[in-house]
Amino acid sequence: MVKGLNIFILLVVALFIGGCTPEADSPQQAKHSVETQVSLPAMPLLHIQPAIYDLGDIKEGEAAIATFIIRNNNDEPIEIVDVQAACGCTAAEPDSYLIPSGSFTQLKVAVDTTAKQQDIKKTVHITDSLGNKAVATLKFNVVDNPHANKVMQSKGIFEGNCASCHFEPLKSVSKGADIYALGCAMCHGVDATGAYAPALLGHTDAEGLSAIIAHGVGKPQMPGFAQENGGPLNPEQMHALVRWLMELPAEKDAKD
Ligand code: HEC
Ligand code: HEC
Repeated sequence: MVKGLNIFILLVVALFIGGCTPEADSPQQAKHSVETQVSLPAMPLLHIQPAIYDLGDIKEGEAAIATFIIRNNNDEPIEIVDVQAACGCTAAEPDSYLIPSGSFTQLKVAVDTTAKQQDIKKTVHITDSLGNKAVATLKFNVVDNPHANKVMQSKGIFEGNCASCHFEPLKSVSKGADIYALGCAMCHGVDATGAYAPALLGHTDAEGLSAIIAHGVGKPQMPGFAQENGGPLNPEQMHALVRWLMELPAEKDAKD
């Protein structure tokens, strides 16, 4: 009975789709072709694509880099005779200054974001040998780089905006492996074999280990992680984490 009903519904749906598609399609197609006819603008003779390149967020200190296409829509070859970057910090150079008719070259633009803030717009003005002009615009938003300028030397990882990555995520996990991955791996290495901070393998004293994690080592990079010391971990989480760490193999496996 149920099966029969299903097949019936399928049939109805199939008929519905079959019946509707051609009707739905044709007005759409018609509309589409009208749109392309109407909205097709005359191609600029010197054409930069995209006109505006939006890189989104870039961390302060990292380079903002974009590649534009410069197209020659003239009937004859052109030479790029002038490239004006709107500020000294913008590097902008076409791959080739000579562009055959109907061909293109690439324009790489790079901006150093050091000490820049928020919404930045850089323009590069291009002029060709026939007098055509075009503008390439590079946009990006410079965001704070939490690890720039070695700020971590003096500031604790649970303070200010550091907490959004080093503290908050820990509140919602309960398994030892997850707590480790979110709260410790970033410094002690993904498999606890050490990275920025020492390896955590071979601990034999669970209580001692627990005490170090709970109280920290007196450095802002390794503060106390237990709630009673202002950290994110409750007693159950502390327990799960220590048990997970104690079960790790005592030595690095034959990787190095
Ligand atoms: C956007 C998330 C995020 C924020 C915010 C953040 N960190 Fe980190 N932190 C990480 C990650 C991920 C790592 C792992 C190393 C890496 O990939 O840079 C890390 C690593 C570290 C390290 C180990 C050394 C290193 O650079 O690798 C220290 C120390 C540190 N963070 C301190 C801080 C301090 C202090 C702040 C606040 C000023 C902070 N972090 C803010 C994500 C963050
Ligand atoms: C932002 C980096 C950072 C994070 C995150 C971090 N630690 Fe540490 N940890 C350190 C540093 C730095 C030391 C101290 C090394 C030293 O003594 O100079 C340390 C020391 C330790 C020690 C003592 C190691 C030894 O051999 O003396 C233990 C145990 C430890 N951390 C466990 C953890 C655990 C577990 C977590 C996750 C809950 C964690 N740490 C998160 C940076 C970090």
